[in-house]
Amino acid sequence: MKILLTGGLGYIGSHTAVEVINAGHETIIIDNLSNSKIEVLEKIEKITKKRPKFYQEDVCDINALTKVFKENPDIFAVIHFAGFKAVGESCKEPLKYYKNNLISTLNLLEVMEKFNCKNFIFSSSATVYAVSEIMPLEEDFPLGASNPYGRTKLFNEEILEDYQNAHPDFNIVLLRYFNPIGAHESGLLGEDPNGIPNNLMPYICKVATGELDHLNIFGKDYNTKDGTGVRDYIHIVDLAKGHIKALEKMLEENVGLKIYNLGTGTGYSVLDIVNTFNKVNGNLVKYEFVARRPGDIAMCYASPSKAEKELGFKTTKTLEDMCRSSYLYQKNNKK
Ligand code: NAD
Ligand code: UFG
Repeated sequence: MKILLTGGLGYIGSHTAVEVINAGHETIIIDNLSNSKIEVLEKIEKITKKRPKFYQEDVCDINALTKVFKENPDIFAVIHFAGFKAVGESCKEPLKYYKNNLISTLNLLEVMEKFNCKNFIFSSSATVYAVSEIMPLEEDFPLGASNPYGRTKLFNEEILEDYQNAHPDFNIVLLRYFNPIGAHESGLLGEDPNGIPNNLMPYICKVATGELDHLNIFGKDYNTKDGTGVRDYIHIVDLAKGHIKALEKMLEENVGLKIYNLGTGTGYSVLDIVNTFNKVNGNLVKYEFVARRPGDIAMCYASPSKAEKELGFKTTKTLEDMCRSSYLYQKNNKK
C-alpha cells in the first residue's frame, strides 16, 4: 500500500517511515524541513535499503499537497506528523502554532476527500488530557489542554471527530503519544532539537556529551515516590510500531474513529531516568534540584490496555534500551 507521511523526516516520522517500509509499504514523505534535515532521508535509505519518495513541501500549501496526491493518486493512508511541538514557544507565538497545526490538517482532509483517500492517522498527545488525580489515564478520561500547543492537538481531535461524523466511511485513528525517547538501534536516527533542549532526555544527552554542564531537575517535592516528576517514557521504535498496528487495523476493517494511548503503562521519575542513564552509559550526568517548572504536573502515565486489546500493541523495549540508544545517537551526532 502507498502511505503518505507528513513530517516524515522528523523524530517520530523518520522512525515510523522505517517501520512502514519494513512492513512492505511504499512510503511517500512530505516535509518542509522546518525542524528536520534532508540527511535523514539518506539515513532512512541506509537502514531500509529503500528510498522513500520525498517532497520538500509545506502541508499548509494546498496546491503543493494537491500536486502530491495527483502524482500519487492511490494513497491508502496518511499519517500526519507535521506540526510544531514546543510548548513554551506556543505560548509566545500562538498564531504560528494555530496556523501550522490546524491548517495542515484542514488541507489534508480537503485534498484527501478530493482524491478519495479515506484513512487518516493523527499524532495526538497525552497533553490533551485534563489534569487528573487518577492514573493511569484512559482514553475516555476528561480532556482539557493548558497551553496553545495542547489546544492545537485538542482542536485537531475535535475537527477530525466532526469530519468523521459527517463522513462515516472515513477512518481516523487518533494516537495519543506519551513521552517518546530513545533512538533507532543503528544510531542513525534520533531526536536532534535545535538550541538548548526543553525535554528531559535530549537535555540529559547533551550533559553526557559535555555540551551542557549539568541537568536541572525541576522540583523534588512532588507527591511521587522520590519527589521528582513521573512520566510514561516510551521507546521511539515501540511508538513507531504502534502506527503499523493502526495501519493493519485500517487494512482489516473500517475503523470509524478510534482513539488509542501509546505508552507503556509504567511511570518513571526523573531520578529513575538519570540513574538508569548513568548506569548504562557510565556516570556522565550530574544534576541539581531547582524549582518546579511552571505548568508541570506530578504524574502522567497511560493505560495501554485499549491499544493492547484492540490493536495488539505491546511495547518491548526497556528503560535501559531507551537510555542506551539515546546516548548512542547523541554521540554519533555531536555537533
Ligand atoms: P519533529 O519536529 O521532529 O517532526 C515534525 C516534522 O514536521 C519536522 O520534520 C518538520 O520539518 C515537519 N513540519 C512541520 N510543519 C510542517 C509543515 N507545515 N509542512 C511540512 N512539514 C512540516 O516532531 P516529532 O517529535 O517527530 O513530532 C511529530 C508529531 O507528534 C507532532 O505533531 C507532535 O506534535 C506530535 N507529538 C510529539 C511528541 C513528542 O514528545 N515528540 C509527543 C506527542 C505528540
Ligand atoms: N525535566 C527536568 N529537567 C529538564 C527537563 C525536564 O527535570 O531539563 C522533568 C520535567 O519537570 C518532567 C519530566 O522531566 O517531570 C519530563 O519533562 P519533558 O519536558 O521531557 O516532557 P513533558 O512530560 O513535560 O512533556 C512532553 C512534551 C509535551 C507532551 C508530553 C506528553 O513536551 O508536549 O511530553 O507527550 F505533551
